[in-house]
Amino acid sequence: MANNNPIGLFDSGMGGLSVWRALQQTLTSESLLFLGDGARCPYGERPPQQVLQFTVEGVERLLERGCKLIVVACNTATAVAINHLRERYPDVPFVGLEPAVKPAALSTRTGVVGVLATRRSLEGELFVRTSSRYADRARIIKAVGEGFVEIVEQNRENTPEAEQAVRRVVEPLLAEGADRIVLGCTHYPFLRHVIERVVGERDVQIVDSSEAVERRVEELLDSHGLRAAAENVPRYEFLTEAGEAYAERLREKAWEGVRQQSKEEK
Ligand code: DGL
Repeated sequence: MANNNPIGLFDSGMGGLSVWRALQQTLTSESLLFLGDGARCPYGERPPQQVLQFTVEGVERLLERGCKLIVVACNTATAVAINHLRERYPDVPFVGLEPAVKPAALSTRTGVVGVLATRRSLEGELFVRTSSRYADRARIIKAVGEGFVEIVEQNRENTPEAEQAVRRVVEPLLAEGADRIVLGCTHYPFLRHVIERVVGERDVQIVDSSEAVERRVEELLDSHGLRAAAENVPRYEFLTEAGEAYAERLREKAWEGVRQQSKEEK
């Protein structure tokens, strides 16, 4: 039996829209309900207890609206809350976001991997465990994307200030010989074009998690029998406590990405 309820996505703000895009492009019959906690973003420097509380509140709202599966489309919230969420809602399938250290560490040729994420993610147990697992394959250099989240939240990706912020963080990684740069925060893919510009002609790959997440969502939809009917006409809704103007910006940023992508594919 088909289940046409929406898939819920939660993020501290607009970053999770990078995951929304990947799902919207591939799962064309699935409705998506996105919640961006714009009023309390960023989460990256907040104490874990607070991130946990905000994440539970957000997830609760999505579940009240009948979401059949939840994507915690935020590395920071995942690092702090995913175990708690799985225990608290044992019947709900969850997909969390984690910096894609594995593919980067297994494919690097220089043996140096740069991981960009928020402080909270990089200090989290999840990241420490994953990075130590691959420590014999690569030297993993951590870097907080200082200012990146604010730039994305304010739609300032195409400003000189964005380029400066990216240079400040990415150039030291390149100087250390990193040939893989992992985007370990869902806001950072919005700065991908700036990172590419800073990388220039160097043989460096930028690695993000959205494809792996999309695959994991499909696996869980199948294993739990939750796919929507093929003929379902999907609904896309954007929730926030940050006011109607912010909700409108979420919508715009989501669809802007889709337009951009189809332009690039042509
Ligand atoms: N988008 C979030 C992440 O993936 C966090 C950004 C923030 O609120 O600091 O980590």
